[in-house]
Amino acid sequence: MKSPRIKGSLSSCRRLYDSGVSSHANDPAGSPSANYAELTAQVKALVAAEKDRVANAANIAALLYDGLPEVNWAGFYFYDGRELVLGPFQGKPACVRIALGKGVCGTAAASRTTQLIADVHAFDGHIACDADSRSEVVVPLARNDGTLVGVLDLDSPRPERFDAIDQRGLEDIAAVFIASLEHA
Ligand code: SME
Repeated sequence: MKSPRIKGSLSSCRRLYDSGVSSHANDPAGSPSANYAELTAQVKALVAAEKDRVANAANIAALLYDGLPEVNWAGFYFYDGRELVLGPFQGKPACVRIALGKGVCGTAAASRTTQLIADVHAFDGHIACDADSRSEVVVPLARNDGTLVGVLDLDSPRPERFDAIDQRGLEDIAAVFIASLEHA
């Protein structure tokens, strides 16, 4: 179960990304792609004046975990020059280090391609951090010059939770995150 939200304490931060338009993922009137348009706009607002990698990753993880339905883990692993190391996330505690090429995260990082896994039990080498996870999407994070930054990882307790709309939306958000690291 996700913890109850603490209303009010984040009001000054919330103004940074509230657009005044309600298109929450649970809104039956909102289409999945419309929700990603809103989430991407919120991410852009959150990182607009900040280049700190940890701060921006922490806010993006929180936004995705809070804003997307049926997600039990959302967060980042960063490449330290040798392997992936756990970064900011929301969800249950996770494995700290993942070698390149290992698991879904290490595969995304090594191949620089998004991994859309309908059934994690069918992925050879999947690393189970939360036994409830049944599907997963991992987006590689690389700078324009090809330098590997890490990965953005989302898990769901529902098989086949993520589709091409999620992939495109999360790749857009990953690009906004990468661009934020280049802010002056
Ligand atoms: N399942 C991932 C490990 C990270 S957790 O899901 C948070 C993997 O196989 O790489």
